Amino acid sequence: MSRLWIGTSWKMTKTLSEGRAWARGLVDHLATTHDGQAPAGVQPFVIPSFTATTTVAEILGEDSPVLLGVQNAHWEDAGAWTGEVSVPQAKDAGAQVVEIGHSERREHFGETVETTRLKVAAALRHGLTPLLCIGESAEVKEAGGSSAFILDQAAGALEGLSEEELSRVVIAYEPIWAIGEKGRPATVEELVEPLAALGEKYTGKVAGLLYGGSVNLENAADLLGIEHVTGLFVGRTAWKLEGYLELLAIAQAHAAA
Ligand code: 13P
Repeated sequence: MSRLWIGTSWKMTKTLSEGRAWARGLVDHLATTHDGQAPAGVQPFVIPSFTATTTVAEILGEDSPVLLGVQNAHWEDAGAWTGEVSVPQAKDAGAQVVEIGHSERREHFGETVETTRLKVAAALRHGLTPLLCIGESAEVKEAGGSSAFILDQAAGALEGLSEEELSRVVIAYEPIWAIGEKGRPATVEELVEPLAALGEKYTGKVAGLLYGGSVNLENAADLLGIEHVTGLFVGRTAWKLEGYLELLAIAQAHAAA
């Protein structure tokens, strides 16, 4: 089995000094308890806000077992796009992963299936891992349309990719109704069907199929136990380093079982 991806986006949180403390704490933990390696069977990743990218990159150091990401990137390599950051710039700052299409970006910043497709292509073109986020609203779920909706989002963003390109993509299924303060943790039962739909199409073809949305220390092991799930994408629980370290330990135990 491939490694379990366990990562966090800090979203719009943390000052530089808070980010530094988190990253230093992680590096120290891996040095003292894992000989500087990732926990066995686990692929850690962290996605700070843009301002902290280089700071975290420096703390993680070269050849870190922890992958570093950005929360968004533009599809053009450079140009007159005020307020945007390109994939080459993200790469230059130390990023290896580009998060694309998080529901918060779709809702508030006009991200569409078409822009996610362009951004996935840009990340792949520059050798970065696209972390494509998909997920349905409560309304779509209530109408029984979850699987069809997320399959459409994924198919649109991944349209036209070669097998090799697809094999470098990570998909994160994050139902909107389960994300953040306004969300509620999903039950395993609710997630089985959409993840089976995604798994049927993408397991073995992509680099990972993650679950995200109110992941916490109580539900993480159960979520990792759902068929096709190969990792967790975490907000609040991992913003405190202790929470993230606990999640790494849960994943390591799961990988060893
Ligand atoms: P929470 O874990 O805080 O619900 O956030 C999940 C998320 O959106 C990760 O991208």
